[in-house]
Amino acid sequence: MTESLPNVEEAWLDVPTLDRLVVSRPSSHPPRILLLYGSLRQRSYSRFLAEEAARLLRQFGAETRMFNPSGLPLPDDAPDDHPKVRELRTLSEWSEGQVWCSPERHGNMTGIMKTQIDWLPLAYGGIRPTQGRTLALMQVNAGSQSFNAVNNMRILGRWMRMITIPNQSSVPKAYEEFDEAGRMKPSPLYDRVVDVMEELVKFTLLTRDCAGYLVDRYSERKAEERPVATPADSARITTGRKSA
Ligand SMILES: Cc1cc2nc3c(=O)[nH]c(=O)nc-3n(C[C@H](O)[C@H](O)[C@H](O)COP(=O)(O)O)c2cc1C
Repeated sequence: MTESLPNVEEAWLDVPTLDRLVVSRPSSHPPRILLLYGSLRQRSYSRFLAEEAARLLRQFGAETRMFNPSGLPLPDDAPDDHPKVRELRTLSEWSEGQVWCSPERHGNMTGIMKTQIDWLPLAYGGIRPTQGRTLALMQVNAGSQSFNAVNNMRILGRWMRMITIPNQSSVPKAYEEFDEAGRMKPSPLYDRVVDVMEELVKFTLLTRDCAGYLVDRYSERKAEERPVATPADSARITTGRKSA
């Protein structure tokens, strides 16, 4: 017997069922993954780590793109049509999943890392450039093991309404883990990066076709007076575009 819920407005209520989540013709294109890193140093271990992650992602069948944060203005210090801002937003909109890889600075992600996220509004012009995308988190440290940056980026991922995967990578004493060419040396830390990228691809394949439905909210449907989403609406909800 259903309990009485006088405060619920039934018109906007969705009772999730499995058939709404299972897509009859799943997408077959390579998962599209955007990688962001949080440093401008010439020899940057967070960039090396992101590049290593990109190689692994391509091995797992993904298409990858990386954003170079050099030249990105501080939030609100340039108009929205600044070329670096446009580039970042276009890449985020293109992506079905993301990797954020920050150095730890003063026990947190760097300002460069945060600035990139701060230029990605939850919604603009009907487009939601992060919502419903998968997210994997990584950090590098000069010190011994720490998880401050990934923990704080996890909060940020929730803020951006992303599906942040459980596994993550934190590389202590990063200066010992990369060779002269910037390649990561074999180690359990490297194996962990493989694990994280494998998991990211799995979660992306599993969720990308129903991402919009997964993150569609009762309170927003009610406020906007729009019907319950279906998996076919996923593209519209995550990117603002009508699905093909
Ligand atoms: C101002 C400053 C603060 C830092 N704070 C930390 C810290 O809190 N924990 C840590 O492990 N490393 C810290 N580091 C070291 C950096 O994480 C390390 O140098 C890292 O490799 C920088 O990233 P990159 O190689 O991608 O530029 C700090 C470095 C600087 C310059």
